[in-house]
Amino acid sequence: MCGIVGYVGDKDVNSVLMAGLWRLEYRGYDSSGVASIVNGDLEVRKVEGKLMNLEGILREKPLVGNIGIGHTRWATHGEPSEQNAHPQVDCEENIALVHNGVIENYYTIKEELIKKKHVFKSNTDTEVLAHLIEEYYNGDLKESVLKAVRRLEGSFAIAVIAASEPDKIVSYKSGSPLIVGLGKKENLVASDIPALLDHTKHIVIMNDNEMVVLQKENVEFYNRDGESIEKEEREIKWSPTSLDKGDFPHYMLKEIYEQPEVIERNIDLRLEGGEFDFGENFNFSPHKLAHLSHIVIQACGTSWHAGYIGKYLFEGYARIHTEVDISSEFRYRKPVMEGEPLVMAISQSGETADTLAGLREAKAKFLEILSLVNVRGSAIDRESDGTIYLNAGPEIGVASTKAYTSQIFQLYLFSLYLSKLKWAMDATENEEKIKEVNSIPKKMKKILKNVDKIKEITEKYKNEKHFMFIGRGINYPSALEGALKLKEISYIHATGYPAGEMKHGPIALISKNSPVVAIAPHSSVYEKMLTNIEELKTRGAKIIVIASEGDKRIKELGDDVIYIPPCEENLSPVLVALPLQLFAYYIAILNGRDVDRPRNLAKSVTVE
Ligand code: M6R
Repeated sequence: MCGIVGYVGDKDVNSVLMAGLWRLEYRGYDSSGVASIVNGDLEVRKVEGKLMNLEGILREKPLVGNIGIGHTRWATHGEPSEQNAHPQVDCEENIALVHNGVIENYYTIKEELIKKKHVFKSNTDTEVLAHLIEEYYNGDLKESVLKAVRRLEGSFAIAVIAASEPDKIVSYKSGSPLIVGLGKKENLVASDIPALLDHTKHIVIMNDNEMVVLQKENVEFYNRDGESIEKEEREIKWSPTSLDKGDFPHYMLKEIYEQPEVIERNIDLRLEGGEFDFGENFNFSPHKLAHLSHIVIQACGTSWHAGYIGKYLFEGYARIHTEVDISSEFRYRKPVMEGEPLVMAISQSGETADTLAGLREAKAKFLEILSLVNVRGSAIDRESDGTIYLNAGPEIGVASTKAYTSQIFQLYLFSLYLSKLKWAMDATENEEKIKEVNSIPKKMKKILKNVDKIKEITEKYKNEKHFMFIGRGINYPSALEGALKLKEISYIHATGYPAGEMKHGPIALISKNSPVVAIAPHSSVYEKMLTNIEELKTRGAKIIVIASEGDKRIKELGDDVIYIPPCEENLSPVLVALPLQLFAYYIAILNGRDVDRPRNLAKSVTVE
């Protein structure tokens, strides 16, 4: 959601800013813009729509200079338009500012500034900040930014330049993510690491209420009071090529095909030497975990679905009562937290505003947080007491795929670890369940090889307007995930239901030829699933079943069957996810959708 990039150095500012913005495109946006300082004047270019439009303008009218800021905007205040795009400037056109987040008290400040004769040209909350900085400006950009941000409520990351101080970028973080890239005779700032990787692997992760002043050969960090602070430099291991699509037409497809490799990597990391190893940042002692009263999981979207699977695993294997909540509900519902619960936050990006707020809510109650996060150094990672990393590599497609299966995989292993600590499972059985994971990458590869069957089915159903996804037990959350994947990238209405709940209402939606995706691999609830499928079939539904190889009975019931290799029931959501992802992907492609950047969506949802 909104992407910021800032550069000061010797390189051509057009190409650095454009390349950075392309790298941040995955975050979701509806307009974009850049600004630089040329001979003591601000130069600004802004457009509505795709980055291609901005690139076109810059080809016709390039910026000049070696310092600049750029932005992709995901509209919150004011519709997507050239006027509302960032950078926003002050009355004198001396200060230009890009912003990620929401300034909640902008209206009051705007009224105050209008009384002081400031003239506003946009409907954004961001422009208010440009004018507020102008109001305080007396020749020292750093000081005026500090005074201005102290007045703000909400969440924001900003990068500011002033034509009167053409050698520096001032950037401040409070809530939204901000990373500094340290180069040789060049320095950068951005909302996310991919925008920096073409220039440097040396980064500094900004914490809330910190400011950075970047010059070509100097970087200074400050706290909210303007006092100088030291920050830790880190080296990023990713290569820029890990951010490319390779031979795949879309990031989403590439990421779907990376899943066996992600699971293989995690088997090596988590089970090395036959012992559980949850990584360098795990930080929870066996003693503490053995005495948990219950677990509370909070997350959003696909990560919430993984958390829901976690409930089945923790309760089934470790016999620990587990609650799962959507973060935006958890944070406002005044949850009762008695005993010694473990709070878990699950997030691919580690920056999701609601999940972060839920985590802070739990911390305020002195509870300890263990998170599952893909992006190291992200806010959720930093603010948790311990983190299990997903090790999925950068996930660029807006639809979460490889992070999701890694989340389930980590939860599976963690539940087995807890079951061991709590003596909840026979040791031999525990060993058997651990061994099961070794077969998963091979089984995933087999599913991915059979993609033609899924393509054939999607051809048949591509024009449907509504899909129902059903599952039971541990694959009920898989049904929710299948429906979410389909709707978010194809814009076709889809809904997920526990199969046993259909006759309590949703079955009224079923008529002749209604398409239903039924998740029915061999499991403890298989027979029940068959009954539910029969009930739908009787009412004319067209059934697409995901079933275990060798299942002959299902052939008679399903209009179309996608087979997956048989596996341990509690690992089946990892396998089931693949045909569901491919089904959504090909339906979306056949409908001409932009699968990596579906409309209205952002990869990192950094506003609540
Ligand atoms: O980064 P997170 O895992 O915290 O993101 C949570 C959701 O925004 C995310 O899973 C979203 O639902 C995806 N678009 C699903 O594919």
